[in-house]
Amino acid sequence: MPVTVRSFAKINLGLAIGPPRPDGYHELRTVYQTVALHDVLRLEVARGSGITIRSKDPRVPTDRTNTCYRILELGRDLLKVKGNVVLEIEKHLPVQGGLGGASGNAVAALLALERAAKKQLPGPERLRIAAAVGSDLPLFLVGGTSLGVSHGEEVYPLADLPAVTCVIATPEIGVSTPKAFADWDARMAAAEGGKAEKLTGSAASDRIEEFGRRLSVWLNGVPTKKAERPSSGVPAKGRGRAETQLLDLVRTGIANDFEEVVFPQHPELRDVKRVLEQSGAMYASLSGSGSAVYGLFRSRQEAEQAARRLVKTGIPAQATTTLTRAAYWKQVLG
Ligand code: C5P
Repeated sequence: MPVTVRSFAKINLGLAIGPPRPDGYHELRTVYQTVALHDVLRLEVARGSGITIRSKDPRVPTDRTNTCYRILELGRDLLKVKGNVVLEIEKHLPVQGGLGGASGNAVAALLALERAAKKQLPGPERLRIAAAVGSDLPLFLVGGTSLGVSHGEEVYPLADLPAVTCVIATPEIGVSTPKAFADWDARMAAAEGGKAEKLTGSAASDRIEEFGRRLSVWLNGVPTKKAERPSSGVPAKGRGRAETQLLDLVRTGIANDFEEVVFPQHPELRDVKRVLEQSGAMYASLSGSGSAVYGLFRSRQEAEQAARRLVKTGIPAQATTTLTRAAYWKQVLG
């Protein structure tokens, strides 16, 4: 019997890009939030040897370029699994960037392998191999709302916020993440009034430090128990606590820096954000480097209307909800 797991998507509730590092990555700060859209993965260890990846979706690579392949290779060796690891990916998530779909698949595949092997890697070991495969993997070992630091691979769980309705739009536009980072560097260099080679990184450092301060203020206002302390920031007149806490967070001003370089190149993404705002989104933003754009809504009805409005203009969009850490773990392994 194959092991079946769900592999969820994420959005970024703000993302501040810091200076480029000697290792080729950029220092960053972001808040990841898992959402309920998901793929289904089935894994079994069959006779023979190797790693076999199958998917009916032709956009899913079945060779070593698939992040699942790389993590399964590492996991198989560490767990001492003998046989042919066969993984089938039932794709429901958009393949468009910004939602961490491939990264989530890889983590779910590792968890499925552990279950099939009836063994578990120690938590820090899981995080280490996830980070070795990609910056966006470790967040899926935490789930819910989490803070990403370093190049995004170092993750810390934040308060588990109640679920909020959201719309995820996935315009069929490819955004290159490395290029978006390079464009950001050029922008920061210009802001410093110097040439790239004179980049001191101070403008970029200021941004991530400011992100940290804003997040700290928000965390200080998050109730530790129900109805204990009021959340800080935006007054929450007439609103439920669920949307208040998440809204307080996004309204601290922790914007996604990628918007500043991605929107001028793909103005249609800015238009998608506007449609979400005009349709009643309390907050809308690019996720990661895009092209996914999301909006947070007060009600399912409003969200579904917004999604329909986008779909009518040819933009794929779905209404869903954010996923708490508790719900995430309950549903990943189901
Ligand atoms: O870790 P991941 O494979 O997702 O990163 C892909 C590329 O994106 C990296 O090779 C790097 O060029 C860029 N990147 C970066 N800074 C980060 C994350 C990724 O420059 N924080």
